[in-house]
Amino acid sequence: MKKIVVAIDGPAGAGKSTIAKLAAEKLGYAYIDTGAMYRSVAWKFLQTGKPFDEDFISGLSKTMLIDFKPEAKINRVFVDGTEVTDAIRTPEVTAIVSRVAAIGAVREAMVDQQRRMGEAGGVLMDGRDIGTVVFPNAQLKIFLTASVEERARRRYAEMVAKGQQVDLQQLQADIAERDKQDSERAISPLRQAEDALLLDTSDMGISEVTERILQLVQERAQ
Ligand code: CDP
Ligand code: CDP
Repeated sequence: MKKIVVAIDGPAGAGKSTIAKLAAEKLGYAYIDTGAMYRSVAWKFLQTGKPFDEDFISGLSKTMLIDFKPEAKINRVFVDGTEVTDAIRTPEVTAIVSRVAAIGAVREAMVDQQRRMGEAGGVLMDGRDIGTVVFPNAQLKIFLTASVEERARRRYAEMVAKGQQVDLQQLQADIAERDKQDSERAISPLRQAEDALLLDTSDMGISEVTERILQLVQERAQ
């Protein structure tokens, strides 16, 4: 069977990373979490303590080496050899990542790396612009979504399970705000590619969605 490129896009909390990781394991594909790459740039910028400056952040993004090391339950992320798996998920990074990801030169640097990571095929890549910009010729494009209420409930459950204190209404407002920023930005906004299949997972469990995607990959990889 051919090893294809699978592009999975959609808003925050739709289940992209959970499902892409599971499907990649079953298929023996690489899983690339492009959101983790933009989060890594935001993390590196916050480490410097400098005020927000597009040119400065663009410069940082061009010299960063981002690496993934997938393990059974987690996908470890490294920036220039330092592990940032947890550090890129803090509220501080989440609050600023969409502003960082709206910078054109940052996107160019990340898209370059993403294309190199996926060029040989056998990859599931998740993000916001994979089917529209990074791999417009991907053999399979999925737009994964769910209602904002359901996505907020999922994130809430995940954070509570980790012992984090969080307010559900605030979380929902933050997710809605980030979706708005991602959808309305000038460069590579979050949108469904014309040839992407829409999967609304509001009432679907993780294994059901994963099975559906595995079935689609098998069809397209013939
Ligand atoms: O996991 P979560 O849904 O919270 O978001 P993420 O996938 O980690 O992505 C974090 C942010 O990175 C998004 O809100 C976007 O602003 C940005 N991003 C992007 O602009 N393009 C991508 N291909 C992936 C993420
Ligand atoms: O990557 P993205 O932001 O799209 O979402 P995620 O981080 O994969 O999923 C957010 C949370 O929703 C995780 O805790 C998943 O376990 C959960 N989830 C779910 O409950 N049902 C689904 N169909 C998909 C994800």
